[in-house]
Amino acid sequence: MLKKFAILLLAASSAIAAESVQLDFTRYMDGKYIFERNCIVCHGPRGDGNGEMAPTLNPRPRSFREGMFKFRTTPFGSLPTEDDLRHTIKHGLTGTAMGMFSQLTDDDVTSVIEYVKSFSRRWRKAENYAEPLTLPEPPDWLEDTKQRATHAENGRTLFVTNCSACHGPAADGKGPAVAGLKDVWNFPAKPSDLRQPHLRCGDRPQDIYRVLATGLNGTPMVSFETTLTPEQRWDIIAYLFTLKLPDVPTLGNAPPRETVKTK
Ligand code: HEC
Ligand code: HEC
Repeated sequence: MLKKFAILLLAASSAIAAESVQLDFTRYMDGKYIFERNCIVCHGPRGDGNGEMAPTLNPRPRSFREGMFKFRTTPFGSLPTEDDLRHTIKHGLTGTAMGMFSQLTDDDVTSVIEYVKSFSRRWRKAENYAEPLTLPEPPDWLEDTKQRATHAENGRTLFVTNCSACHGPAADGKGPAVAGLKDVWNFPAKPSDLRQPHLRCGDRPQDIYRVLATGLNGTPMVSFETTLTPEQRWDIIAYLFTLKLPDVPTLGNAPPRETVKTK
């Protein structure tokens, strides 16, 4: 796919009509088989998120027809990378019905991704693709209790100004703006309870940093890439880790994440 994309960019630069990205047909057929056995009950035969189980689920299974994906490493608005989708499928999305498909081989996952892409025309257009953002490592002060407390204090102020309208002053997802929030699929967009030890994006400080950089496509959770400096983002993250609720074992699909070092 990437190779094809590179060729395509060359073609585009010489202003030839070939603007469309081709799908791999063999992969598509293999992927259809895997999709029908593993994904169809939720995502539906037409990939519109209306599978048999859908009406009972919250959040709803994703419709793939708009080509909007929340959990990515690419800039706001862009399609996810192959690896982003692979991560979602292999690890699942904690706290939702989207379980982890660890029994699928890497090859199966590659095929089912190709099939998922066939549902939306956004995957055919080169302009919707983007390279992943380069994200920094967490700052050293995050390991130091005293320094972390100072940064968290600053983070609290920044959180109140930038986040609490949606996520609530207590970061429990109950901000004053909640009632009016919708996603592009026309369902209520529920701001996450950021105190939870496990989030869909991951549990580590850098996972939250990534969401602040990329935003969640299709939802009111936009990117803060241009509105908050990296320092401000780490300060907010330090604050959020002071609010974390204790981890309790849950049934179901909590993926094995790397443990967070906050002590
Ligand atoms: C039991 C229901 C269920 C099954 C089965 C299921 N999913 Fe999902 N899936 C969901 C739900 C619910 C969401 C939406 C989660 C959210 O929006 O936070 C989702 C979201 C996704 C997303 C979007 C992630 C993003 O970043 O926005 C992808 C991709 C995906 N599923 C792929 C698959 C594939 C491939 C399979 C089969 C191998 C599969 N799912 C099987 C329920 C399911
Ligand atoms: C306009 C409303 C709004 C604002 C402002 C906002 N968020 Fe969000 N945020 C949301 C919504 C809605 C979601 C869930 C989207 C979905 O899954 O459909 C979300 C999701 C997230 C997630 C993903 C958590 C997970 O479940 O994986 C993180 C992290 C996050 N927000 C942090 C922040 C921080 C930090 C700020 C402030 C810098 C902020 N948000 C500002 C609405 C908002």
